[in-house]
Amino acid sequence: MTKAVSPRPFTLTAAIDYANADPHVGHAYEKILADVIARFQRLCGRDVFFVTGVDQHGQKVEQAAKRLGMDVRSFVDHIAIRFRTLWETLGITYDCWATTTHSLHQQVVCKVLRQLFSAGDLYKSTYRGFYSIRQEHFLTDKDRDETGEFGPEWGEVIFLEEGNWYFRLNKYLPWLSEFMATHSEFVTPAFRRTEIAHAIQHWRQDLCISRPRSRLSWGIALPFDPEFVTYVWFDALINYLSFTGYLSEDPKEEEEFQQRWPALHILGKDIMIPAHAVYWPIMVHAMGFPDQQIPQLLVHGWWNSGGAKVSKSTGNTIDPSALVSRYGAAALRYYLMRDIATGRDAAFSEERLILLHNTELANGLGNLLNRTLSMVNLYLGGSLHPVVPSHVSNTLREENRRSASEYLLRMQSFQIDRAITAIMDIVSRSNAFIEACSPWALHRNQKQKTRLVEVLTTLHESSRLSASLLAPILPRESAVMLKQLGIEAVSFSHPDPTLRTSLEVRPPEPVFPKLP
Ligand code: MSP
Repeated sequence: MTKAVSPRPFTLTAAIDYANADPHVGHAYEKILADVIARFQRLCGRDVFFVTGVDQHGQKVEQAAKRLGMDVRSFVDHIAIRFRTLWETLGITYDCWATTTHSLHQQVVCKVLRQLFSAGDLYKSTYRGFYSIRQEHFLTDKDRDETGEFGPEWGEVIFLEEGNWYFRLNKYLPWLSEFMATHSEFVTPAFRRTEIAHAIQHWRQDLCISRPRSRLSWGIALPFDPEFVTYVWFDALINYLSFTGYLSEDPKEEEEFQQRWPALHILGKDIMIPAHAVYWPIMVHAMGFPDQQIPQLLVHGWWNSGGAKVSKSTGNTIDPSALVSRYGAAALRYYLMRDIATGRDAAFSEERLILLHNTELANGLGNLLNRTLSMVNLYLGGSLHPVVPSHVSNTLREENRRSASEYLLRMQSFQIDRAITAIMDIVSRSNAFIEACSPWALHRNQKQKTRLVEVLTTLHESSRLSASLLAPILPRESAVMLKQLGIEAVSFSHPDPTLRTSLEVRPPEPVFPKLP
């Protein structure tokens, strides 16, 4: 007897958002993208562990609290609630909420710091030069623009002379170059590899991993020098380990960690270099992780508005909660997955959100479902039984099967927009099939009864397939559609929609009411 092999667990993380402001559509996009991937993997039978949360330390957060006259603790708690409430409204199914002020995380950061300190990878030195408060970053001449100035992206820039702790990043650059050259799977999309290779080639500095407590107290104290707190990025990146069981004292959790790791990290292009593609793999390597345990990156592009990245500092922030109140969570999830190619930028447009919802969901899929269910109810009393399909139906089924395979390939490679196109191909083809077969005419002719049953069964299969494939993207609506179709559950381990047992459908109820 062969033993069933269960698929490897799938761990994914979405970047932890700064707790210095309310969420905007850029944040929402990333979490929906991660949620769609997580849901897809679950439907494929994998045990998924999805981590996201908020990045609560650092000067930016401390200053934002001060501006509002709040103590930092209450401020970060308040922002965390804003994010969590939005994720609930949007149906984001994370398994673990990572907050960097959590004691578990603080312990792991201290363990990592002690380990690197004992290995001789940390040293103290004095820095004299410019510093960006907004980016919490020590600047070099490389950061100046063509006019020789530090551009507006750096915010307020001050001159500093201060002692700090450094991580020997330079020592590990040759390893990172070699790793990059031999592990093409490290970053998706592949076009980002050149950019990373270029950054590594020109990298010169070690990483400053501390800030003096006299200047910033809102952070994790260095365990071997409490006059300093940990640099916010060094602290934040470690969340990926803290919340997956790394260095846990509980042997069960440590074993779980071995199963769960490496993770897939989902992040935007603005935080790829240097944080995720230079600092992070080197940190993990220096901690002793073998190459096969170095995590992978899925780097997405930006939602822009008025030609610039949607962000609070640019002043063009777009509030996802307001969009949900106006159009519903489904319309927003669909739009944010449908109108951007993973890895590229897109221009946010409310008109496109309405248009895509109305044309593809309300008119396309909604009509297919409505017509199929109405006709099965009206002509067949709501009952369907397995039938032998005709040549014409077989052509449609064959084409739909090809679209379903295309969908699976696209979803596996995180190209959600292309996967949606494959669903919409099934929808348009099936709507055209209705027109071509005119079931209403078949119904009028007694001799065509067998053909009518066969056409409606084929349409039921098409509707079921479209609704099932939509499950990771619009889980609630997919479940409602499948219920109307008389189907209990979806599984992508067996995506064949062929009707194998008799079933009863329900009367149609609109799932995608048109947006005004
Ligand atoms: N706190 C850091 C991440 C630490 S991860 C260890 C951070 N936070 S952020 O709030 O500024 O951004 C969080 C995520 O949202 C990032 O992946 C970022 O790229 C993404 N986005 C922020 N604005 C965006 C758009 N306008 N469009 C798409 N995503 C963008 O960076």
